[in-house]
Amino acid sequence: MKIPLSDRLLACCNFVRRGDRVADVGCDHGYLGIYLLTQGIASSVIESDVAEGPLQSAMRNAVKFGTKNKMSFHLSDGVQNIPRDFDVLVCAGMGADTIMSIIHHAYDWLADPKYRLILQCQSKRPELRRWLYDKGFRINRETLAKDGKFIYTIMEVVFDPGHPFSHADSYISPQLLENNHPLLPEYYARVKHGVELTVMGMQRSGDDQLPVYEVLLSTLNEMEERIYGNRS
Ligand SMILES: C[S@@+](CC[C@H](N)C(=O)[O-])C[C@H]1O[C@@H](n2cnc3c(N)ncnc32)[C@H](O)[C@@H]1O
Repeated sequence: MKIPLSDRLLACCNFVRRGDRVADVGCDHGYLGIYLLTQGIASSVIESDVAEGPLQSAMRNAVKFGTKNKMSFHLSDGVQNIPRDFDVLVCAGMGADTIMSIIHHAYDWLADPKYRLILQCQSKRPELRRWLYDKGFRINRETLAKDGKFIYTIMEVVFDPGHPFSHADSYISPQLLENNHPLLPEYYARVKHGVELTVMGMQRSGDDQLPVYEVLLSTLNEMEERIYGNRS
């Protein structure tokens, strides 16, 4: 029986190390945890969701794929009602506001270098990256995955305060540049197009933030040669 795991979730799994104890918050169907256990990657998985229906679905799937004995199931808003004995927290398929709220409400214990956070955010990625750095987190690695027409970014994040992070970094992180994933040119083009539209809108409305976004656009333009030039 094949686990129906998307490339997006597979990319999240690729950041998990052998033996990690994983907490998948917002697990829904539970396939990420099931995959990690059937592949012998995770040693245990906490499955949690804010809604009863998804959690029941994760339990049913865990029985179907024979992984239930290495999983625990928790109805929880974020990490509020889950055990803290995990190494890696996964938040996938959620918007930036939800992810920020989950981390914010557990900041007193989650802002700790012993945890790694794997974040796959569906919206407002520059805002999330900026917020993470403002809160003392650092992106350790970032990669891309495509499902259908969407390109997703997946970040591995650690608590490691004191690292500078520019406005342009929050749009295309240095870690994403470093990774040089085959999807990077396409992702970069989409990000740059979005910023170009923002600049045009600001020019029309006379927004006082225009100079900031013009500098951002020129910094993104400077990345172009590195992004396209590195292709083999
Ligand atoms: C779009 S699904 C993503 C499921 C899976 N993680 C994935 O990436 O395919 C989002 C899931 O997150 C859950 N969720 C939303 N807000 C949450 C929160 N604050 N705490 C826990 N789960 C949440 C929803 O109930 C839903 O099951």
